[in-house]
Amino acid sequence: MNEWETLHSQCEACRKCALGHSRGRLVFGVGNPNADVLFVGEAPGAKEDELGEPFVGRSGKLLDQYLEGIGLDRKSVYIANMLKCRPPQNRDPLPTEQEACLPWLRAQVKLIRPRVIVCVGRIAAQRLIDKHFSVTKQHGQFIERGDYLMMGTFHPAALLRNSKYKPAALEDFLGLRERLGEMQK
Ligand code: URA
Repeated sequence: MNEWETLHSQCEACRKCALGHSRGRLVFGVGNPNADVLFVGEAPGAKEDELGEPFVGRSGKLLDQYLEGIGLDRKSVYIANMLKCRPPQNRDPLPTEQEACLPWLRAQVKLIRPRVIVCVGRIAAQRLIDKHFSVTKQHGQFIERGDYLMMGTFHPAALLRNSKYKPAALEDFLGLRERLGEMQK
């Protein structure tokens, strides 16, 4: 087994929190294991839990559109979530669940070694960037963290609820494209 297969099977067997018992399928992550950009969402929803892949429901379709808008797709980036298992009724992940699951994300980051980590929504941004992170106020800002640049943007579910933020989200993705372009030079 290679490193990814080992990590995947260890994660599959994880029961560090109760969600490992209640979930349908593990939603480990998808995409290019050498991606320059890692997108981190919140947690699997019903569709993701059924199919075992992140962002495949309505939110995912919107995320795909934003990716496409800057010439990327889910095969060229890596997409994962803070939680690998679905919380019942799509409730917010508990702090204890986030702590239990974080080592899996850290291990993914270590293998991928992305240049940029994009936190998709409040839950990821507050856990990975700053516990007081405000998506409406701080979205699109690039913050240096050791080897990575971090950026927080709107969760597509929030954009589906409130489309007034869609232009701002597009700006965030355009900013990402610009940063990536600068890095290739
Ligand atoms: N919302 C998320 O944060 N992640 C998913 O995978 C699906 C919906």
